[in-house]
Order: sequence, then structure tokens, then C-alpha cells
Amino acid sequence: MRKIIIDTDPGHDDAIAIMTALANNDQIEILGITTVAGNQTLDKVTDNILRLEEVLNVDIPVARGFDRPLVKPLDVQPQAHGESGIDGYDFPETDKKAIDMHAVEFMKETVEKEDKITLVAIGPLTNVAVFLRMYPHLISKIDSVVIMGGSVYAGNILRRAEFNIYHDPEAAKIVFGSGAKVVMCGLEVCYSASILFTEIEEFKGQGKISDMFYGLMKFYSGYAIRKGWDRTAIFDATTIIWLLHPEYFEVKEMAVDVELNGKHTQGMTVCDEVWHGDIVPATVLLSADREKYVQVIRDAIHTLDERAA
Ligand code: RIB
Ligand code: CA
Repeated sequence: MRKIIIDTDPGHDDAIAIMTALANNDQIEILGITTVAGNQTLDKVTDNILRLEEVLNVDIPVARGFDRPLVKPLDVQPQAHGESGIDGYDFPETDKKAIDMHAVEFMKETVEKEDKITLVAIGPLTNVAVFLRMYPHLISKIDSVVIMGGSVYAGNILRRAEFNIYHDPEAAKIVFGSGAKVVMCGLEVCYSASILFTEIEEFKGQGKISDMFYGLMKFYSGYAIRKGWDRTAIFDATTIIWLLHPEYFEVKEMAVDVELNGKHTQGMTVCDEVWHGDIVPATVLLSADREKYVQVIRDAIHTLDERAA
């Protein structure tokens, strides 16, 4: 059983990543969920995860993290995720509350108690960077920091930068340079595993969770539709599908640094196949078996439909 903490800014694809992990709870145990500002404000993304847990009938500890990046100003993305941060499905109210502990302290206390933990970071890296900088002695207990973020050459917020890294580039630079083993699920692999709009339609009317998935993905497809594409990436889900099926992916060990300045490049992950010095290379995912990737999503949502029935 792999024990993980998910650091997140839900976020449509965040929600699907979390659901994919929950559906595969025979292989993955989520010890806690920490929230970070990114797609929307800290209050909104925290409210979103609590409401998602209400719908899924689970009680995973939720700890609030930072409400802004380390240096840059907050830069929420309503055009991609809506005013709520997870538009497209009418989530119920909930009495669930976040625990009275900061995300970084939750990470510290949880990692201390376990032999090995995987940190899954699917939002800006503000919380993870501070945790690794404050408690470097705990890095030996982290088998990997699996992030959705970065790119080898693509960009979705700038021509060469991906949103999670762009939103807090200083934090990302700390994480990649921390000595922890980073697994980078960047834009290229996420785009290669995109779900077709026709495949999204198959979920409509198939069950309670299928209908949630359908509503979320119909909204989240807006970016791809505006680009004239016939498919959309479910970016954050890539981290979980990597943990479940690494064999679905083509990877390369690369030294990764982060550009902190530059009109066109702030937040760019600079990935090198050759490096010098004692750099700990990241495992960079390059491409995926799309059919198998999408089938994991189908199976997960179907499993959650059965549990909700
Ligand atoms: O670039 C994709 C990332 O930005 C995903 O984590 C998505 O949730 C948004 O935060
Ligand atoms: Ca996210």
C-alpha cells in the first residue's frame, strides 16, 4: 500500500486525480489533503475539497496551506476553473471543516509518523517548498514528490511556462533543488493522454459520480474548445495514474531548474539531459499510452458510481 499526501488547488482535474486515487484505495492510501491557493483562493479551493469529500462520502483530513505564492502575487484562474474554482457541478453544502493545523505542519507530523510517504503535488508548490526547506531531515522519508507541473518545451500560461510552476516559480525552484526525488508530470505527457470530447460524452447519465465527472469535464473542456481541439488533458490525474501504472509512460531522467524572470519564460522548467555536479535529476514523464490512461479514469469513476449507489 502506497501512502500519500495530496497537495492541491481544486480545480477540476485536481478533483479527478483525487477520485482516481480514492477508487484505487486497495493500492493507494490518502493520509491527508493539503490545500494551496492557485486555481482559486485558498478559501475556495479548501471549500471545494470539503464539498467533494461530502459527495464522495469520505473523511480525509484537510489542512489549509498558503493563501499566496512565496514572492509573486496571487493569480487565480476563473477563466479556466470558474468563480468557484470547480464550476460545472452543483456541489452540496457540507459541515466538514479543515483541521486546525497548517498544511506544512500536517506534512511534517504525518511524514514523521510513517516509514515512507509519497507527496503528490497538483497545484502550485508553495506548501511543498516550505515543508522541504523547513524539514530537510525528513526528505529521506519521502520516496518521491510527484508533481503535475512544468514542461520540456510547451506552455499553457505563457508560451514556455505551465501554470503551477508559473504561479510560484520560487517555490518550484526550491522543490526541484531540494534533493528530494521529483517526478515531473509536465504538459507534454498530460496532452499526450488527453481524453476525447466523445469519450467524455460516454459518462453522461451513467451514475451519480459519472454525472459529476461529466459536468466538471464539460466545463473544463472550455480551454481546449477555445483552442479548436477535440480533446482535453486531465492534467493532475497523471500523477495518480503514474503511481498506479508507471509502465504506461515514457520517461527520461533530466536535470530541471526553474526560470524566475523573463517576460516569456518566468516559470519555465529548464530540462537538461546532461548535467554536472551533484544535482538530483527529476524523472520527467514525456508521453503516455492514452487508451490505457483513459481506461483507468473510466474504471475509477465506475467504481465510485458503484460505491455511491
Ligand atoms: O497546468 C495545469 C495545472 O494548472 C493543473 O494543476 C490545473 O489544476 C491547474 O492548476
Ligand atoms: Ca491543480
